Amino acid sequence: MSPAETVIERIHALGQISDEPGHLTRTFCSPAMRRANDLVARWMVEAGMSVREDAIGNLIGRYPAKIPDAKTFLLGSHLDTVRRAGEFDGPLGVLIAIACVEQLHKSGLRLPFAIEVVAFSDEEGVRYQCAYLGSKVMAGKFHPADLKRADADGVSMAEAISTFGGNPARLKFSRANPKDILGYAEVHIEQGPVLEKKKFAVGIVTGIAGQTRCRIGFFGRAGHAGTTPMRLRKDALCAAAEFILGVERLAKRMRGMVATVGQIDASPGASNVIPAQVALTLDVRHRDDSRRHAADRSLKRMARRIARKRGVVANWEVIQDTGAVPCSPALSNLLAQAARNYQSKVLKLPSGAGHDAAVIASITQVAMLFVRCRGGVSHHPDESVTTADVRVALSVLNDFLQLLARRV
Ligand code: GLV
Ligand code: MN
Ligand code: MN
Repeated sequence: MSPAETVIERIHALGQISDEPGHLTRTFCSPAMRRANDLVARWMVEAGMSVREDAIGNLIGRYPAKIPDAKTFLLGSHLDTVRRAGEFDGPLGVLIAIACVEQLHKSGLRLPFAIEVVAFSDEEGVRYQCAYLGSKVMAGKFHPADLKRADADGVSMAEAISTFGGNPARLKFSRANPKDILGYAEVHIEQGPVLEKKKFAVGIVTGIAGQTRCRIGFFGRAGHAGTTPMRLRKDALCAAAEFILGVERLAKRMRGMVATVGQIDASPGASNVIPAQVALTLDVRHRDDSRRHAADRSLKRMARRIARKRGVVANWEVIQDTGAVPCSPALSNLLAQAARNYQSKVLKLPSGAGHDAAVIASITQVAMLFVRCRGGVSHHPDESVTTADVRVALSVLNDFLQLLARRV
């Protein structure tokens, strides 16, 4: 089996490891994440790496440098998924990185820097709504107050980490020392249609859009659906519905803006009871942080206006605010140079999706390689990448490391 075929086979094997029967759902510190980390750890060892897991459950495989006291170059992506996910978002970057190290190991080659392949424990933020928990710990950006957050079953983040085998009291010791790190490169499926349309296997990412995540509550009054006249109602779900359509309207009006309400929970939740409370999530993204913050402010005003008009109360909690991040021109140029060995032209494109690289950029230079996906589909079971494109991405990453080795 070729290395690219092995990558695809392993991605399919990981795709079977899920917390939800019949679908791929693997969230932070869940039983499925435990099995996924254990399996990936075995592949890391086979590839010649020593393996450790840090206090938040990031799995790290280390391939030593040819000289002592050398710096470390980080490769990686995440192993958690969204709900009912595709197989490639995250694992593609981890598995290509492992395959790359495996090739060095089999050829008996060591580089003038160590390589660490990081399989981040949370990028999607599904379980606790706040994303990038793994990379935030590594970058020293984790807020200890988040340990108190509860998941949908009331399990605190601290408890989930301990059950997984991590240690919530030692998160600060899992922080990487920026002085030891040379840079970070992440391979990821594009999750959009550009590469497919332009007929390129891979592209170089110029930067990653900023992201706000909020939890919004509307609080009205429950009542009898058959007896309460329409004009006397304080229906929290009607307020939420008006807000959701307002979010869509505003995002359509602002160029480059995307905004999504992806989760909604209405209670008490009976067909003959007027909804008293609604909790919803809001995700707002733009390449320009000031425009994103302006949208956040107008949406907050809109929520208050709708609530006032309907006699309900709106509550607004910002859970995450991650700034837009440019990729390193130096590392991206090396990636582009490597990509030119396999493509006549190298396309540069921005990322609307968030990536671990966005957080790791706070401690070191980062670069990203996007791999074409079928139909631009992602966050959906139909996500698909061809073996031929994996072969190109793997070769580009290998060549990139060799180019980097000449410059260190
Ligand atoms: C991660 O996939 C994100 O962009 O939300
Ligand atoms: Mn994702
Ligand atoms: Mn991802």
